[in-house]
Amino acid sequence: MWNSLQSEDSEATMGNKRLNSSCLVAVVLGAIVFFLLGFAIGWFSRPTTLAMPPNLNARKAFLTEMKAENIKEFLYNFTRLPHLAGTEQNLLLAKQIQDQWTEFGLDLAELTHYDVLLSYPNETNPNYISIIDEHGNEIFNTSLSESTPAGYENITDIVPPFNAYSVQGVPEGDLVYVNYARTEDFSQLEQELRVNCTGKIVIARYGKIFRGNKVKNAQLAGAKGLILFSDPADYSAPGVEPYPAGWNLPGDGVQRGNVLNLNGAGDPLTPGYPAKEYTFRYNPAEGVGLPKIPVHPIGYHDAERFLRNMGGPASPNTWKGNLNVSYNIGPGFKASYSTQKVRMHIHTNNKVTRIYNVIGTIKGAVEPDRYVILGGHRDSWVFGGIDPQSGAAVVHEIVRSAGKLRKEGWRPRRTMIFASWDAEEFGLLGSTEWAEENAKILQKRGVAYINADSSVEGNYTLRVDCTPLMYTLVYNLTKEIPSPDDSFEGKSLYESWHQKDNWTDYADAPRINKLGSGNDFEAFFQRLGIASGRARYTKNRKEGRYSGYPVYHSVYETFEIVEKFYDPTFRNHLTVTQVRGGLVFELADSTILPFHCQDYATALKYYADIIYTLAQKHEAQLATFKVSFDSLFSAVNNFSRVAMAFNQRVQNVDMNNLISVRSLNDQLMFLERAFIDPLGLPGRPFYRHIIFAPSSHNKYAGESFPGIYDALFDIENKADQKKAWEEVKRQISIATFTVQAAAETLQ
Ligand SMILES: *[C@@H]1O[C@H](CO)[C@@H](O)[C@H](O)[C@H]1NC(C)=O
Ligand SMILES: *[C@@H]1O[C@H](CO)[C@@H](O)[C@H](O)[C@H]1NC(C)=O
Ligand SMILES: *[C@@H]1O[C@H](CO)[C@@H](O)[C@H](O)[C@H]1NC(C)=O
Ligand SMILES: *[C@@H]1O[C@H](CO)[C@@H](O)[C@H](O)[C@H]1NC(C)=O
Ligand SMILES: *[C@@H]1O[C@H](CO)[C@@H](O)[C@H](O)[C@H]1NC(C)=O
Ligand SMILES: *[C@@H]1O[C@H](CO)[C@@H](O)[C@H](O)[C@H]1NC(C)=O
Ligand SMILES: *[C@@H]1O[C@H](CO)[C@@H](O)[C@H](O)[C@H]1NC(C)=O
Ligand SMILES: *[C@@H]1O[C@H](CO)[C@@H](O)[C@H](O)[C@H]1NC(C)=O
Ligand SMILES: *[C@@H]1O[C@H](CO)[C@@H](O)[C@H](O)[C@H]1NC(C)=O
Ligand SMILES: *[C@@H]1O[C@H](CO)[C@@H](O)[C@H](O)[C@H]1NC(C)=O
Ligand SMILES: [Zn+2]
Repeated sequence: MWNSLQSEDSEATMGNKRLNSSCLVAVVLGAIVFFLLGFAIGWFSRPTTLAMPPNLNARKAFLTEMKAENIKEFLYNFTRLPHLAGTEQNLLLAKQIQDQWTEFGLDLAELTHYDVLLSYPNETNPNYISIIDEHGNEIFNTSLSESTPAGYENITDIVPPFNAYSVQGVPEGDLVYVNYARTEDFSQLEQELRVNCTGKIVIARYGKIFRGNKVKNAQLAGAKGLILFSDPADYSAPGVEPYPAGWNLPGDGVQRGNVLNLNGAGDPLTPGYPAKEYTFRYNPAEGVGLPKIPVHPIGYHDAERFLRNMGGPASPNTWKGNLNVSYNIGPGFKASYSTQKVRMHIHTNNKVTRIYNVIGTIKGAVEPDRYVILGGHRDSWVFGGIDPQSGAAVVHEIVRSAGKLRKEGWRPRRTMIFASWDAEEFGLLGSTEWAEENAKILQKRGVAYINADSSVEGNYTLRVDCTPLMYTLVYNLTKEIPSPDDSFEGKSLYESWHQKDNWTDYADAPRINKLGSGNDFEAFFQRLGIASGRARYTKNRKEGRYSGYPVYHSVYETFEIVEKFYDPTFRNHLTVTQVRGGLVFELADSTILPFHCQDYATALKYYADIIYTLAQKHEAQLATFKVSFDSLFSAVNNFSRVAMAFNQRVQNVDMNNLISVRSLNDQLMFLERAFIDPLGLPGRPFYRHIIFAPSSHNKYAGESFPGIYDALFDIENKADQKKAWEEVKRQISIATFTVQAAAETLQ
């Protein structure tokens, strides 16, 4: 049974539920006492020499305490059963983690709960898709489940493949193949191929972009249903066997996943506010980001059956995958099958359900009111062998190591917070609700957030996505961590990473990516403006077209696939543990925050050049409408100048003057915050960072100067050119103001 826990307050009577006021008072008093206590402990445990140098021995002890063997054991332990959000099993795991974190030596480990909108298939009325003949008989049905991997046959609560939050329905019609269902794919369909998707069921392959964007695009094109499939071109590496003989996706393997377009809202029914007992909820029909059409995922065996007889024009070569079919576009099947249609059966239900985060803390010795957060999710679609437990096992080992030091009398300078988030798979819900509940505190005291989902998506080299503020910290740290790669014996992680992924177009240094979204750092970075970063082991980006890793979100994500194919020695996991843990350690324990604001200046210049170059494609319009980037470049130059001067002050600060140190640190902490526009980006109130945002066309990817980028997007096809270019000018001025204002915070 993958029946979810009934939320205590999810009944129709929820609105009438009385607020238990004495309980609320107790909670508030408790919170006040907790913070006063924090201050008191911090105050009385202040070292006598006020600003101690970072404790290098403590860092060494912290990193050498971490063991590959432990990570392996934790991964095994976390992957015995499914841990779908909202189920009993995932609550039990939360309680286990809470108990273990307490045993490990944290000051406190608590559960925080929220009642959020989740989505589950109907247990007695399965979802599937049919081909029907002219009499309406279902002559082909897609499979209802994947085959269970060996050793897991007795496990009964495996949720069948589905797309969470799909609307219910039994649409019938002709198919149209739409490639990846990207913005550009639909443009090509309309403008070149002249295929009309209105009233059709569209079939798209997974990959390249977030699936929620595919749904949005299909809806805009007028589709009445969407079938998503994993093509071997995107989910099978050449020369590799399907699981269990290798790490490729078997033909019946299916990628589960939510299809929301939340744009940072968290729980669809309580956007902006924590989903507590007292919180007003929208009617589920009015929820933020919910899809409007039925959507269902299938494997490539079933997909081949639908694509085999497609009629209509052949698709462009770039649209062809690796199935033995023509990839014709349709609409509908070819002449000899033209009476056949497709019928979807979708009976998935949305349901308000209780979820649980585990929040652990080690109070800071000197600055207990400054928080460094390490968070990663605990909920999985099925066993979560890679996503998320390869990450959760790493967090567990970091907590164990920190707890050990803490038991031996050590405390970090600042407070460390560890989080095991729930319901990430349903739209980053646990992390976003917690960030909403604590927004006022986090805004004032949040130093940094390090994200910890899957630790491995390949075994080639390190991959880091982070704010430019952390570039130097990441480089410094990786120079001190040994490379786990066999051919780099005795070399640093930095060296193997640099060799394998040289960021030649930006610097002679290892590549670091922009933060997009699709993971739990979103609320912290994109909404609150807290400096954030993430790290994992990845595949060779130069090899193969396949997306993510093949078995992503299928039942085949097991402990065994990691142990046999991704990281038999768990040395890559250990490396990721040291990177994530090392970042948290440095951020929490360095006297001066290890943020290098000149790296932000370089990045601003680089991204300003990119958006400027993009705009130059419209040279004539730039002249006609008098669009200039001069002010933006002026602000960027001012930022560089101020950042350089600030860096001088950092070099010269009197480390024994606690006020000077604290004041510089506050400027550093609030620098990322300065890029937040309280009004948010156009139409996206929860994406408020003016320099970086998730791309409007792919939530997974980061876009720089997103306001300007979106204003320029497809501008040649906008009906009112004057209005369109006025918007570009407005976005340039917002970016200019924000960069200039951020520079001024460093003065
Ligand atoms: C996981 O580890 C905990 C702590 O050692 C233990 O209590 C629990 O039984 C283990 N769970 C499984 C499924 O092995
Ligand atoms: C599941 O489907 C059955 C059969 O159609 C129906 O009776 C039942 O109400 C559905 N359950 C839910 C929770 O919607
Ligand atoms: C598909 O499922 C329907 C409903 O269970 C059933 O009536 C039909 O016979 C099935 N078709 C095939 C080819 O199995
Ligand atoms: C499944 O359950 C059966 C009957 O209880 C038992 O004989 C078998 O060993 C179990 N299989 C696994 C893989 O645990
Ligand atoms: C597509 O078809 C719909 C309904 O058949 C029609 O209303 C619409 O105008 C068509 N779109 C184009 C671009 O032809
Ligand atoms: C591909 O499909 C065609 C026609 O359906 C078939 O004759 C051929 O044997 C198939 N090729 C492979 C490699 O399966
Ligand atoms: C990185 O690329 C730069 C520019 O091409 C080159 O000079 C440098 O040697 C490369 N570094 C490594 C480690 O390959
Ligand atoms: C691990 O590395 C080897 C050697 O480069 C490679 O052949 C293999 O495909 C990698 N495994 C995975 C799961 O990426
Ligand atoms: C990086 O290392 C250099 C050289 O040790 C040091 O001067 C600098 O402060 C470090 N910067 C950060 C942000 O850690
Ligand atoms: C940059 O600084 C100069 C000198 O202080 C100032 O004149 C200019 O207005 C600033 N640029 C912006 C965009 O504010
Ligand atoms: Zn995940």
